[in-house]
Amino acid sequence: TSNKMWGGRFAAGPDAIMEAINASISFDKRMAAQDIAGSRAHAAMLGAQGIIEPNDAEAIREGLLTVLSEIEAGTFQYSTALEDIHMNVEARLKEVIGEPAGRLHTGRSRNDQVATDFKLWVRDQFDAAEGALLALIRALLVQAEEGADWVMPGFTHLQPAQPVTWGHHMMAYVEMFGRDLSRMRDARTRMNESPLGAAALAGTSFPVDREMTAHALGFDRPSANSLDAVSDRDFALEYLGAASICAMHLSRFAEELVIWSSAQFRFVTLSDRFSTGSSIMPQKKNPDAAELIRAKIGRIFGANVALMMVMKGLPLAYSKDMQEDKEQVFDAADNLMLALAAMEGMVRDMSANRPQLAAAAGSGFSTATDLADWLVRVLGLPFRDAHHITGTLVGIAEKQGCDLPDLTLVQMQTVHDGITQDVFSVLGVENSVNSRTSYGGTAPAQVRAQVARWKGILA
Ligand code: ARG
Repeated sequence: TSNKMWGGRFAAGPDAIMEAINASISFDKRMAAQDIAGSRAHAAMLGAQGIIEPNDAEAIREGLLTVLSEIEAGTFQYSTALEDIHMNVEARLKEVIGEPAGRLHTGRSRNDQVATDFKLWVRDQFDAAEGALLALIRALLVQAEEGADWVMPGFTHLQPAQPVTWGHHMMAYVEMFGRDLSRMRDARTRMNESPLGAAALAGTSFPVDREMTAHALGFDRPSANSLDAVSDRDFALEYLGAASICAMHLSRFAEELVIWSSAQFRFVTLSDRFSTGSSIMPQKKNPDAAELIRAKIGRIFGANVALMMVMKGLPLAYSKDMQEDKEQVFDAADNLMLALAAMEGMVRDMSANRPQLAAAAGSGFSTATDLADWLVRVLGLPFRDAHHITGTLVGIAEKQGCDLPDLTLVQMQTVHDGITQDVFSVLGVENSVNSRTSYGGTAPAQVRAQVARWKGILA
């Protein structure tokens, strides 16, 4: 038998393979609540505008609540033959309230319906990501405040570069996740226009009130072009783009945690709650959560690229290709939320190994720049000469198997006779970080100022 929703012109029903490739109910049932909210807003508008009888509108709105409660209770029977969530809900509504159900789809198409449902779903994800990012930022601020003056190595090329503070390193991620947060907010603002009322593609001849449905669903306004309204998926791509950048940040941090928790670094101890053991090696404590964050990020990037590929060749307006948008976004959103929560938990629970950080901070000639700066500041040398002299001293220390502060004054004076005992005051790591007081620098006072600024932002 042909499809009862659209089968009027069909003599035969679809092949089983047609049904399998066409149906989206297995995944778009995740938009059931959004679909019902959209239909309830549409029905109320149809009634208010006199497009359908107000009592029919009321029956539809009530009936949809019954359907929603069945879905929430898990008693709803989904049917693949009914393709998608939209037709599943409408078919059940017909069983519940009878004839008025057939009036719901007046002045509407599944094209504006699905765009509306999906926008509502993605909008919730922007909000969820915002909440999770705020929680992660708060956890980082606790670490940063506690360790505002704990020295650790700062790296470039993963080689010791200059000492920094633990707090400074944590605050670097606060800045990154803070931008991720603002990207989510920006995109949410941009996408908050209602497609409902665009109908199939051209708008409708019924006197619909698009402002009314837009506001009922929390949109700022109706979208201004019906072709665009049903064709646009850039809101989903902006979500995936923002999610991808956020995921990239999570992955970099996860990578650092993997390195830092290794026996060779021992910068941090991850809590037992966010580590796992080995079934053969009894000593093992593995940073699996960090590794899985690093790995899951690939799925989010993949979703971003996949949806770009789906969309890039589509002529206006709707094509069925667009049905492929949802699984990508669902999977990316699930994994982003999991990764954010896992990272927040790890950050909350981890403890920095302060003595080890301090010891590492002083190794690798990390205060060489401080020595060069001293030669400029105190002896008035051009920086390039100071750089060369310091390099020579590093070479001597390296040959001798010691660090810069272990050289004697006499040894230093063989390289430049103006060097005095005062130089040793800048070779310590504490002194090094304390001196980096430029705005945004690693000096504890600067770090504390940034923590305070962020607390103000979050308050
Ligand atoms: N399941 C479809 C989707 O997800 C709903 C829209 C179908 N529209 C249509 N004209 N066939 O895109």
